[in-house]
Amino acid sequence: MKRHPMGRCFAAKLAAPTLNQQHPIASWAKQYAGSPIEFSSQHTEALSLLMPLLLCGEQSAQLVFQQQALQLAQHQPADSVLALNEVEADEAWHDEALQLVFSQLPELSGQHQVRRAAQRFYSGLGRSLSLQQQFVRIASLDACVTQLMQLIERGSIGSRHPFSLLCGLIKKDEAKHVYVSKHFAQHLGASVHEMAEERLWVLGALMTLLKQQANQFELIGVDLDKLEKKLELKWQ
Ligand SMILES: [Fe+2]
Ligand SMILES: [Fe+2]
Repeated sequence: MKRHPMGRCFAAKLAAPTLNQQHPIASWAKQYAGSPIEFSSQHTEALSLLMPLLLCGEQSAQLVFQQQALQLAQHQPADSVLALNEVEADEAWHDEALQLVFSQLPELSGQHQVRRAAQRFYSGLGRSLSLQQQFVRIASLDACVTQLMQLIERGSIGSRHPFSLLCGLIKKDEAKHVYVSKHFAQHLGASVHEMAEERLWVLGALMTLLKQQANQFELIGVDLDKLEKKLELKWQ
């Protein structure tokens, strides 16, 4: 597949993803891979700069779930490992589909800076954390991503645009990931209090990253302050 030069986020090599052809995003890809996905010039520029943020998130999630599946495989029943493999397969599709869009967007000098900020954020997020803490963080992060995807889906690109349709599909998967990650976190001993505290920390950290591109989000009709307030209200 043709990739954008900024499409790869981490040096760590991902195991070859298994792209399940029954996945809802497989149908999306089948429908839209053949012809160019068109955006207005404003949206083109905004998405060119926002895409590294989204892609680094997907690739970091793939890496984390691969590692977690390996760790858990040693002492957990096979069906719970299977749940992690399914999440990893979703993330592989998110990456693949976003790459398809990104490969059609221009190269801009500002992309390097955005990617660097995203790399720092995502590699800092999981550093020296226990498996339980990692699940707590992912549950929180994916809850934020679920809301963000919904805002993009309903934003100014237009709800029938292929990219908005893709964000809607990603949103559904992320909501499922929140459920799976929460389940593992609780199973490994995370308390309700710990999860609540961590959620607000993750939200703050993610917002600091995203707000560096607040203008670009605004161009696609996403108000980050509104997103933050909504999640704070929900979680406080
Ligand atoms: Fe994802
Ligand atoms: Fe996810």
